[in-house]
Amino acid sequence: MLPARRTCSLRPCSGGVSPSFCLHAVTVEVHICKEDVVASAARRSIGPTVGRVKLTLPTPPLVDAAAGIILRPWRVDDATALAAAWTDPAVARHCEVPPDSDLAAASRWIAGWTERLERGLALDLVAADTGSDAVIAEVGLWPFPAPGSGSVLSDVVEVGWWTVAARRRQGFATAAARLVVGWALASLAPARLVARIPPGSVGSERVATGAGLTRRGRLDDHHDLWVCPRAIVHA
Ligand SMILES: CC(C)(COP(=O)(O)OP(=O)(O)OC[C@H]1O[C@@H](n2cnc3c(N)ncnc32)[C@H](O)[C@@H]1OP(=O)(O)O)[C@@H](O)C(=O)NCCC(=O)NCCS
Repeated sequence: MLPARRTCSLRPCSGGVSPSFCLHAVTVEVHICKEDVVASAARRSIGPTVGRVKLTLPTPPLVDAAAGIILRPWRVDDATALAAAWTDPAVARHCEVPPDSDLAAASRWIAGWTERLERGLALDLVAADTGSDAVIAEVGLWPFPAPGSGSVLSDVVEVGWWTVAARRRQGFATAAARLVVGWALASLAPARLVARIPPGSVGSERVATGAGLTRRGRLDDHHDLWVCPRAIVHA
């Protein structure tokens, strides 16, 4: 099984992320200051859950009645939907999914949901149909990775998303991203909120724009970095 930090079902693929990517990006593109990197390195010795942002479950749950979605935790009976999403080529290409993406793996991943949140590794939420409670999409938050390490910059939060293939192009990812970004800015108060998007991924770019993020530059891992201007404190 993959280390816990890498088992989130929606992280953009991070292969090839190098120390220079973050240092270059933060200095030139998004103004994440060098002190953040140094502080993050210092925090590594006491673990990744220590930091200024503590991931918590939105309470009460976030709802977009017009879109017909509610953001809720993953549940055991969502495993079939999760395994199906993991084997969707579009999700597998753009998101970080476990190598074993069958029903048993999905069940194990869901069973680890609470631990990932408690350890500050990820807040992974289902965008569920307010009527049927079926999984429509996923939206998640996690600490932006520190350069070339298993640690985190815990005052910088990254957001990601996917939508079940049959429910795409109906506004669900945008609605879910808007909900979670708005809540995170107000409740978690990160120094910055970012997304990493493969260039040319028009759907995700539209989702990011709809959630209030703007493109700030290209990272060395060949993803574009999108930043929520409202969260920048050092720009
Ligand atoms: C990208 C993705 C999340 C979009 O989800 P979605 O629920 O279809 O998104 P929305 O319906 O909210 O669409 C948002 C906008 O993008 C547009 N859009 C969506 N998919 C598109 C596509 N393939 N090509 C062009 N435009 C697209 C929509 O028309 C909409 O436009 P608007 O803002 O002008 O109304 C979905 O296609 C997906 O899950 N892809 C695979 C996983 C993935 O790429 N995740 C992101 C990793 S960074």
